[in-house]
Amino acid sequence: MSRAACLLVIISLMSPAAEALDNGLALKPTMGWLHWERFMCNIDCDTDPNNCISERLYMQMADVMVKEGWKEAGYEYVCIDDCWPSHQRDAQGRLQADPKRFPGGIKKLADYIHSKGLKLGIYADVGDKTCAGYPGSLGYYEKDAQTFADWDVDLLKFDGCFMNRALLGEGYINMSKALNNTGRPILYSCEWPLYEWPLKQPNYTAIRETCNHWRNFDDVFDSWSSIKSILDWTAAHQDIIVPAAGPGGWNDPDMLVIGNFGLSHDQQESQMALWAIMASPLLMSNDLRDICPRSKELLQNKRIIDISQDSMGKQGYRTAKGNDFEVWERPLSKNRLAIAVLNKLETGGPRGFNIGAAPGWKICGSQCNVTQILPQYKEMGVQTQQSKIIVSVNPSGTALLTVTPISSDFRRLHKLNWQGTFVRRKHTIL
Ligand code: GLA
Repeated sequence: MSRAACLLVIISLMSPAAEALDNGLALKPTMGWLHWERFMCNIDCDTDPNNCISERLYMQMADVMVKEGWKEAGYEYVCIDDCWPSHQRDAQGRLQADPKRFPGGIKKLADYIHSKGLKLGIYADVGDKTCAGYPGSLGYYEKDAQTFADWDVDLLKFDGCFMNRALLGEGYINMSKALNNTGRPILYSCEWPLYEWPLKQPNYTAIRETCNHWRNFDDVFDSWSSIKSILDWTAAHQDIIVPAAGPGGWNDPDMLVIGNFGLSHDQQESQMALWAIMASPLLMSNDLRDICPRSKELLQNKRIIDISQDSMGKQGYRTAKGNDFEVWERPLSKNRLAIAVLNKLETGGPRGFNIGAAPGWKICGSQCNVTQILPQYKEMGVQTQQSKIIVSVNPSGTALLTVTPISSDFRRLHKLNWQGTFVRRKHTIL
C-alpha cells in the first residue's frame, strides 16, 4: 500500500462514520447542569420556593457555578428541562414562560446567565406536548426556534413525547434546520434514537448530521441499578452507536447524578469514570448549592474531565468482561489510552485486578508510563508489558488509569490495538 493510501486508511479508522451537524458546537462533550433528575417537575413555588422550577433556581445555580469552581472546571451550560412554560402560547402563538415562576421571562434569565459567563439551555418537544404535558412544538418549529434565538438561548433539549413515531425523524430534522435558519448557534440535544429504537434501528448517520448529542436509552435515575442498565445497554449496542460519536456529535447516556442520594461514593466514581470513557455530555443534575465535598471534588476532578474532553474525541468501548469485572477503554490524543476497570460484584470487599489483562495494555509496548486516577491519584511510573500491576477495585467501584506508551515501536502497537481490539470489537473474556 502506498503511503498516501495507508494514511487514508488510518484517517478513516480514526474518524467517525458520518459528518457532524455543522454548527460549530459540541466539538467536545457538553458540560453543564440540567435540572431534570434532581428537581423534576416541581412547580410548587408556594410551599417549596427553593426547589421549584423557577428563574431563581437557575440564577442560584449559575451563581454557585461561578463561585464554587464549576465554571472553571469546564461546566458551562445551565439547562432548563420540562415544566418551564405556561400552558398557553401567547397571542402570537409563541411559547411563554410561566409568568409566576419566571416573572422576568427567559430573555432576562439568559442575560443573567450570560453575565456570569455561562450559557442557557431550554427544553421543548418535537410532538404535540412535552412529556409532562406542556405545549409541544409540532406545527411551530420555526416559530419556537426563532423565539429561542430571540431570547438568546444557547442549547435546546428536544424531547420526543406525543409524536407519531413515523414522523419522528422528519420532526427532528426540521427543527435542526429551523434552529440553523435563525443564524444563532444553538446546541441541539435530541432524544430521537431513544424514541425510535422500539420501532427500528435508528439511522445514526442522519442523527449525527442533525443533532449535537442524542439520548439512546431510558432516563437516568438516582440509583446504581439505573447506572448499570445504561452501561449494559451501551455495551450491548456499542458496535452501532460508538462509531457515530466524535467532535460535533455525541451519544448521551443522560445526566450525572453524582452528589444526590442514591449512589455510594464508589458508584459515583464509577459513573464519573465511565461517562468520561463514553465521551458523554457531562450534564450534572444535582443541587450545587448543597453538595458534599467528596462529590464536588469528584465532579471537578481535572484528570477525569481531561479524559472526557480529550481532543481526539473518540468514544471508548467495553473491551473485556468476566469474573465480575468489566474493562472499558478509550483511545486518547498523544497516543494515550484510558482504561477503566469496573468491579461489578456487589458483595465482599475490594478485589484485585491485574491491569495486564486489559486488552488495551498491549499499547504499552516495551515501555509505558502509567497514572492511576481513581480511586486515588498515583503515578505508577514506567512499566513494561510484563509488569504485574494489581489494582484494587471496591464493589461497584472503578479503577481508572491512563497509559502512555514510550516505546519506539508505538505505531505498530497502536494500530494493532485499535484494529485488533476495537475494529473487530470482540470482547476478551477475562
Ligand atoms: C423525558 C426525558 C427526560 C425529561 C423528561 C421531562 O422523560 O427523557 O430526560 O426531559 O421527559 O418530562
